[in-house]
Amino acid sequence: MSVEANQLASTSANDPSDYFGDRAHSPPRGRCKRTPSPFLSELMHISVLPKQVLEYLDPKPNENYIDGTLGFAGHSKLILERIKPNGRVLGIELTSEVFEQIKKQNIERLVLENNSYSRLQEIIKKHNFLPVHGILLDLGMSSWHLEGSGKGFSFQKNEELDMRFNQDRGVSAKDIVNLWPRQELEEMLIEYGGERFAKRISDEIVQTRKDKPIKTTSDLIVVLERAIPKRFQQGKIHFATKTFQALRIKANHELENIKQVLPQALKILEKGGRIAIISFHSGEDRIVKNFFRDHAKLGHLKTLTKKPIIAQEDEIKDNPRSRSAKLRVAEKL
Ligand SMILES: C[S@@+](CC[C@H](N)C(=O)[O-])C[C@H]1O[C@@H](n2cnc3c(N)ncnc32)[C@H](O)[C@@H]1O
Repeated sequence: MSVEANQLASTSANDPSDYFGDRAHSPPRGRCKRTPSPFLSELMHISVLPKQVLEYLDPKPNENYIDGTLGFAGHSKLILERIKPNGRVLGIELTSEVFEQIKKQNIERLVLENNSYSRLQEIIKKHNFLPVHGILLDLGMSSWHLEGSGKGFSFQKNEELDMRFNQDRGVSAKDIVNLWPRQELEEMLIEYGGERFAKRISDEIVQTRKDKPIKTTSDLIVVLERAIPKRFQQGKIHFATKTFQALRIKANHELENIKQVLPQALKILEKGGRIAIISFHSGEDRIVKNFFRDHAKLGHLKTLTKKPIIAQEDEIKDNPRSRSAKLRVAEKL
């Protein structure tokens, strides 16, 4: 794959540095630009673990599936092919721009909903979408969020610090860094970013915002440059990676959404139906693992993946972000 194609490839990564392969550079200083998104439809999006998702979900003709994180419908299209001639996919996508893009494609047997998968039962009711034979969640963001959204997901671009998948939901990264108490910032950086310099960074954020608000990705990079010791700014993984990851997870209530959707998914699935979840962050994976384990003990489901399924070398070569993907699958009993 060319470098360009590689950079435009899909990312579900919580680790923005994965998106760029190696250590990325800081964004250009100066005026903050809102990146236009004219190339949305041309963005190449490589779905992670496609073969494994099909193998484990095992869709059959005329069954119905839910894709709770539709994105650019890569997985959904594969499932739709398997459930021909009458099977349907209900695709849920929170980001309106991505949703509109897919809507334009008029994909046959794909029912669309611009919403959060955390409202699964309500959405199913609205579309009268039963029975459900399988559910897929491919967590995280797409390449478009980094490349074309202009919402500050990427530390390679100087954009306004927003990081919400949908501006009607969640809390912007700008509000988090400018309004939250120091202690909460530190806890967020530790819990969602595993950031070892959480205290120094939260101290520096509070110090900086006393003079002027931190409004852009570049403003935040300047804070991080001051807070993180110089010798730790040279590693393979960009020094902003963990802070950006923590802010995105918090801004979108990502872990809470997973906690909310799992019991709903279990409830609406047919017996023998499967739920497949691809996660990219240890916090997400832990929630899924524990939910499957607890409900297996209660006899509600059977875990089909004793260990999470991970990408093979050849997939990682073509799609670098797949290296942090973990797929877990369970079957309803
Ligand atoms: C990794 S992409 C999915 C890619 C997709 N599986 C494919 O193959 O094209 C994840 C998508 O989930 C969306 N998303 C994130 N949180 C969501 C939520 N709570 N509800 C619905 N969609 C969400 C993001 O906007 C993004 O488009």
